[in-house]
Amino acid sequence: MSYKKYQTKYSNQFPAIEDLAKEAKKRMPHVSWEYLESGTGDEALLERNRLAFQNIQFTPRFCNGHLEAAINTVLFDKHYPCPIGIAPVGLTGLIWPEAELVLARASNRLQIPFCLSTVATETPERVGPLVGQQGWFQLYPPKSLDLAFALLDRAKQSGFHTLVVTADVPMASRRERTKRAGMRMPPKLTPGLIWDGIKHPFWTYHTLRRGLPRLRTVQDYAQQTDFKFVSGFVGNRLGGTLDWDYCKVLKAYWDGPVVIKGILHPKDADKAIEVGMDGIWISNHGGRQFNGAPASIEVLSDISSIVAKQVPIVFDSGVRTGLDIMRALYLGADFVMLGRPFLYGVTALGRYGPDHVIHILSDDLKNNMVQLGVSSIEALKSLS
Ligand code: FNR
Ligand code: LAC
Repeated sequence: MSYKKYQTKYSNQFPAIEDLAKEAKKRMPHVSWEYLESGTGDEALLERNRLAFQNIQFTPRFCNGHLEAAINTVLFDKHYPCPIGIAPVGLTGLIWPEAELVLARASNRLQIPFCLSTVATETPERVGPLVGQQGWFQLYPPKSLDLAFALLDRAKQSGFHTLVVTADVPMASRRERTKRAGMRMPPKLTPGLIWDGIKHPFWTYHTLRRGLPRLRTVQDYAQQTDFKFVSGFVGNRLGGTLDWDYCKVLKAYWDGPVVIKGILHPKDADKAIEVGMDGIWISNHGGRQFNGAPASIEVLSDISSIVAKQVPIVFDSGVRTGLDIMRALYLGADFVMLGRPFLYGVTALGRYGPDHVIHILSDDLKNNMVQLGVSSIEALKSLS
């Protein structure tokens, strides 16, 4: 059995990422959906992330004869079939039981990067063998360097080769929406949650089989009482200490590429290169941290000018179509990551969900490249 067998059926039933989102919403409890979808404050940045892409237009050129678009690319000396990867998502098991394992197997099959979060619900030891050569490890820099080194050792020994240091959580954000939904960590068995569980028996059955979602990578280092709502945990125990010297220490310790995630200011991109970062990941955390920030796509070309191809640029936040990916590549991104869409895929379709997400995005990217009149990513970039 393979995804190919389902491709036509899925493509008719779920032609776009938003179709997968609609299906996923039905299949997971309300609290999980609110956690996945949430921004912060009045969530204006979620909207901005979507709308800002629409401001980037291209004027197509025609009469190019037969065009076929090639979307394969290279990042950190590795070849990829498409410039698309899976961004780190914490507390993944709350969204869908064992989602990290499904994503890891899919990334290995599809030969695309999968970035495992520090606050994942499965450990690097469990995910490493499934992810093969595609593993990136995301670090929320702990206050204690010893804890940082312990996490990095575990990731390295489990086969993760690219380190991602998240910079954009200097403190937990408020996430009013998840509070309204009654989110607690660990999940508290309130009547509301039990009713939600009854309405989603598949989710509940598999969640109970695996055990309630826990931050399995970091739980050994924290007292049980520290497990408050995940972003609180990240902000209080893991966040709030990153500075450029810390980045240098991580770079010296990790043998492999180090990417700094959450950069929005050109001066920070410049500084990151100065301290030895191997890649800049432009992101506003999917609109979840600082509601006053610009959309990632709005800062991309300024950062790209400063970076001037010294290191690769990874990009995320709000990408939902192949056309969005084309816009990001055009403005200077080398690789595009998505967070929520892969979870929609896993929740809606199970094990071949990520394959279908990649199919939708790759097909749309190629289609739009041909509409525009370019046949390779290099040709697209050279338009700018
Ligand atoms: C995230 N993101 C994130 N980033 C990170 O560095 N570590 C993490 O643990 C998490 N956790 C997390 C949970 C959830 C539910 C979401 C939606 C996002 C941010 C993520 O890596 C990525 O930057 C955004 O998801 C990109 O935006 P889109 O693609 O979701 O619009
Ligand atoms: C979030 C944290 C885990 O975005 O980064 O929910």
